[in-house]
Amino acid sequence: MKFLIAAVSLVSMVTASLDGNLNYNSPSRRHPSLGIDVPKVVRRGLETRAWDPVQLNFTHGVASGDPYPNSVILWTRVSPMLENDKSNVTVEGNVPLYNHDTETYIEASPNPVCVDYQIGIDRDFSSIVDKGTAYTTSDIDYTVKVEAKNLQPFTTYYYQFMVCNSDNKSPLGRTKTSPSAEYDGSKIGLAVYSCSNYPNGYFNAYGNAARKDNIDYVVHLGDYIYESTRGTLGKDPRATNPPREIFTLYDYRTRIAQYRTDLDLLLSHGQYPWIPVWDDHEISNNGWRGGSSGLNNTEDSFLKFGGVSVDQRKMNAVRAYFEWMPIRQVDMDDNLRIWRSFQMGKLLDLIMLDTRNYDRSITTLGWNNEYIADLKDDASRTLMGSHQENWFYNQLSKSAARGATWRLVGNQIIFSRINNTARSSDWLNADQWDGYTANRNRTLQHLYTNSISNTIFLAGDSHANWVSDLVWLDEKPYDQVTGVGSVGVEFAGTAVSSSGFGGTIANATTKSKGLVRDNKELQWSEGYYRGYYELHISPDEIQANYFGCPTVASRNPFEISLANFTVKAGDNHLTRNVGNGTVEAGALQRGTTRQTNVTLNTETGTWNVTMFNQMFIQY
Ligand SMILES: *[C@@H]1O[C@H](CO)[C@@H](O)[C@H](O)[C@H]1NC(C)=O
Ligand SMILES: *[C@@H]1O[C@H](CO)[C@@H](O)[C@H](O)[C@H]1NC(C)=O
Ligand SMILES: *[C@@H]1O[C@H](CO)[C@@H](O)[C@H](O)[C@H]1NC(C)=O
Ligand SMILES: *[C@@H]1O[C@H](CO)[C@@H](O)[C@H](O)[C@H]1NC(C)=O
Ligand SMILES: *[C@@H]1O[C@H](CO)[C@@H](O)[C@H](O)[C@H]1NC(C)=O
Ligand SMILES: *[C@@H]1O[C@H](CO)[C@@H](O)[C@H](O)[C@H]1NC(C)=O
Ligand SMILES: *[C@@H]1O[C@H](CO)[C@@H](O)[C@H](O)[C@H]1NC(C)=O
Ligand SMILES: *[C@@H]1O[C@H](CO)[C@@H](O)[C@H](O)[C@H]1NC(C)=O
Ligand SMILES: *[C@@H]1O[C@H](CO)[C@@H](O)[C@H](O)[C@H]1NC(C)=O
Ligand SMILES: *[C@@H]1O[C@H](CO)[C@@H](O)[C@H](O)[C@H]1NC(C)=O
Repeated sequence: MKFLIAAVSLVSMVTASLDGNLNYNSPSRRHPSLGIDVPKVVRRGLETRAWDPVQLNFTHGVASGDPYPNSVILWTRVSPMLENDKSNVTVEGNVPLYNHDTETYIEASPNPVCVDYQIGIDRDFSSIVDKGTAYTTSDIDYTVKVEAKNLQPFTTYYYQFMVCNSDNKSPLGRTKTSPSAEYDGSKIGLAVYSCSNYPNGYFNAYGNAARKDNIDYVVHLGDYIYESTRGTLGKDPRATNPPREIFTLYDYRTRIAQYRTDLDLLLSHGQYPWIPVWDDHEISNNGWRGGSSGLNNTEDSFLKFGGVSVDQRKMNAVRAYFEWMPIRQVDMDDNLRIWRSFQMGKLLDLIMLDTRNYDRSITTLGWNNEYIADLKDDASRTLMGSHQENWFYNQLSKSAARGATWRLVGNQIIFSRINNTARSSDWLNADQWDGYTANRNRTLQHLYTNSISNTIFLAGDSHANWVSDLVWLDEKPYDQVTGVGSVGVEFAGTAVSSSGFGGTIANATTKSKGLVRDNKELQWSEGYYRGYYELHISPDEIQANYFGCPTVASRNPFEISLANFTVKAGDNHLTRNVGNGTVEAGALQRGTTRQTNVTLNTETGTWNVTMFNQMFIQY
């Protein structure tokens, strides 16, 4: 009898702690068949022995994200092995797990791993603000995601995880809450990223912002991983793991885990709270609601690609993403929902969209491009689906009504109309908003009709830099020289490491010159450098600073200041002279390009900083 009581209380205790790990709720708590059977995990755990703390490692650092004024998400992975889980643990007893590092089988138990966490105002934890215990198991790839609570707004915190009853500790993480909605007069800095392709190059851009350390939060607009395969494992230092295009849950976990070994990515995750959304490659290239370029929703495709359907593949990718990313699931009834928003003081609202996977009408898939070109103006076409689209317009209105100065829209693809003739045989890229013109018109209509001011679109996806006034061409007058008639600004950024325009810097500049010639709202185009941009936001103005990495072929800390832009509150266009009249690379409307010839000394592996000293920033 006594034993029974003890067992029962242990069950409820462990259940509560499993609940503390938010990853048991993903992808959907309300649809148990899609998620984890927590009672089963608890029963299994009670039958098996506990882990010895020395068997466990924090394999992929720490991360934090989705800052609210009083809470933030903390993440780590604590595991008996580097290898990712195949979710193949049998319920009956112990399962031998193979440790690829030691080439031995571990007498593994599916017993939960126990971790404590704490968060405080300094590195020494002289004052602990929140702490707790959480459990993880192979079911969620040994990931841990908890919400640290009771925090003060717009405050820096340090956090750490520890294997229970041991001194086995994770690296120390740093994070920051958001300002409360009422907070007035703060300044906020963001680093904005997209398109980090591991085999294509080193993630220097992540590390550069972290080394300068003059921002508060990281925003990632998607293509955090790529699903394709490249290189030979064991031969090429950045060959993809697994060595194939990814489809299964194990595949997606393994791919994200590999990306999370890049030292600059780890640095950024450990130092800033991230606010990410996915684009197509977190699942599959040129995704839409019913498929992607490489996978039709047909019997043929199903058989060709190892029996993983479009829906199952999406589910696998989404589950691995939620397990590994330090983000909140804002709607437990909607497991595909990543679109969400953040109020950051009176200063700004950050509205993060999913124009890709949630409910998007068909896009260009290679074989159907002519059909999409014919279809692009169809009134029913949507990038977001009606649920999200209505939410989006409401968010814009509510944000204006509450008196937030700025509205930042974290979106994947380029919003502005772009004539691509200068770099492509096809003027139209219908995989961007250009393929969904009715949806774009509805958005512009909402902004103009409701006189919603100070809206800044952010975009990634394109692997190049595009800075534009936000205009409704053929509907509202627009003066290219003064910017009058524009309703906001678009800042689209280049890739962390995915390929740009290609060729030499001179080739890329030629293309950019053509692009600004053919697109009057496009004020700056640049497609040579890999990099990112920072936004420094204050009540009076936004400063956008674009940075380029001279090379991603090696891990290095060099960067070049490419261009700076200002937007004054209330102007709704880029401040003239745009870019202060001079940029380092690419092409500027009515401006000049310095275009320094950057050289690498291949003998020493250093950049020629003699010549370009004023331009290079080495941290
Ligand atoms: C954990 O880390 C220690 C120390 O780095 C190492 O010796 C051990 O092999 C690792 N264990 C596993 C299971 O990876
Ligand atoms: C799961 O384990 C069983 C038994 O060991 C094995 O037959 C099966 O192939 C495994 N499935 C996967 C997806 O690894
Ligand atoms: C998808 O279907 C189209 C049209 O039938 C075909 O051209 C294309 O090759 C298919 N793609 C795949 C990956 O099977
Ligand atoms: C795109 O620009 C080219 C000039 O490079 C022009 O000839 C063409 O008419 C433009 N296309 C559209 C659709 O505006
Ligand atoms: C979008 O607005 C433009 C400008 O008014 C108009 O020419 C175009 O026909 C509209 N497209 C759709 C699909 O409504
Ligand atoms: C770069 O420009 C040169 C000179 O105009 C041209 O010959 C070459 O084909 C271009 N290369 C690429 C990759 O566009
Ligand atoms: C951008 O501004 C910084 C100072 O904030 C300056 O050092 C840098 O040279 C500027 N970059 C360009 C391309 O003008
Ligand atoms: C703009 O350019 C002028 C001269 O070209 C320079 O003095 C000034 O510092 C620049 N301002 C910024 C913000 O880069
Ligand atoms: C840059 O300088 C190097 C070395 O002087 C030269 O080989 C190369 O052609 C130059 N590149 C461009 C684009 O001017
Ligand atoms: C670096 O620039 C200086 C000054 O122009 C030049 O003398 C030197 O040859 C350059 N070094 C390399 C490695 O390009």
